[in-house]
Amino acid sequence: MAKYLVTGAAGFIGRSIAAALLSRGDLARGDSVRGVDSLITGKRANLAGVEAMEFIEGDLADPAVCAKACAGVEVVFHEAALASVPRSVADPVATNRNCVEATLNLLVAARVAGVRRVIYAGSSSVYGDTPTLPKHEAMLPNLISPYAAAKLAGEHYMSAFTRVYGLETVTLRYFNVFGPFQDPASQYSGVLAIFCRKLLAGEQPTIYGDGEQSRDFTFIENVIKANLLAADAPAEKVSGKTMNLATGAAVTLNQAFEILCGLTGYKGKPAYAEPRSGDIRHSLADIGRARDLLGYTPQVDFREGIRRTVEWYRTTRE
Ligand code: UD1
Repeated sequence: MAKYLVTGAAGFIGRSIAAALLSRGDLARGDSVRGVDSLITGKRANLAGVEAMEFIEGDLADPAVCAKACAGVEVVFHEAALASVPRSVADPVATNRNCVEATLNLLVAARVAGVRRVIYAGSSSVYGDTPTLPKHEAMLPNLISPYAAAKLAGEHYMSAFTRVYGLETVTLRYFNVFGPFQDPASQYSGVLAIFCRKLLAGEQPTIYGDGEQSRDFTFIENVIKANLLAADAPAEKVSGKTMNLATGAAVTLNQAFEILCGLTGYKGKPAYAEPRSGDIRHSLADIGRARDLLGYTPQVDFREGIRRTVEWYRTTRE
């Protein structure tokens, strides 16, 4: 019998992990899922379909919320964050509060509650603009945004809590995750969510820079799979470890735009604008460590992932 806590449970990734846990069949054996979300960027509407999850509305920057969320829990999936590079450039203090303070409070509460393992949503942004490709975990971080600094601080807190308190922690450094339930409507949304929404509505998207920047875009199902593997992997193999979570293949924004035109029927051209501050040119992961430690291999490639994503936006569009 295990109790799982998903933070950021009303957000895109948290909601998807919660749904996977609920449908895993463990619940029949008495397992249960709790979610917590401040609803700063998470949406109550995302809780549709995960009603079997106990939901707490609250901010992890408040230690009392962390204590309530962690009570009786065995494994935590820590997905809550203010996930955006430009948002952190505009308001680094808010990013620090929601990424660093929240993570530290959560770890303190997890330790007090006797949580066994915390799996942390790290970010590829910590690699910054180092020219080396693919990015591997032995590389020194190279932070070029407050967001990257905040996500790396969280990683360090994870490994410190493993070292000094024996709390099992695993960091998965996500590379540009996309898929159903990603919010397409905010100026801080991920690029593929924005493009899907705009192209389906027949609106012109904007590409910042020349569009030749590339990303290791990772479909949400791969992320769910890796999180479940990270929850079940033996501690001696994974505890205190950091590993990339991606596909090992990169796509440029111009390529992504062309594929999306084919899928949506959009006939126009993108508008090109100045590159974004804090932006990274190329991002591509070496996924060897996740393969070795978790037995992870990507299940869904970019083309299939983006096809399913477009279908989802098409059917959920108002
Ligand atoms: C970064 C991190 C990622 C993290 C995410 C959180 C890197 C390599 N990746 O993503 O791991 O999860 O922050 O937010 O640091 N763009 C456009 N038009 C738009 C929107 C974006 O051209 O309308 C461009 C951006 O300038 C960028 C690319 O698309 O070059 C991707 O942007 P975005 O989806 O915001 O993600 P990253 O900043 O790469």
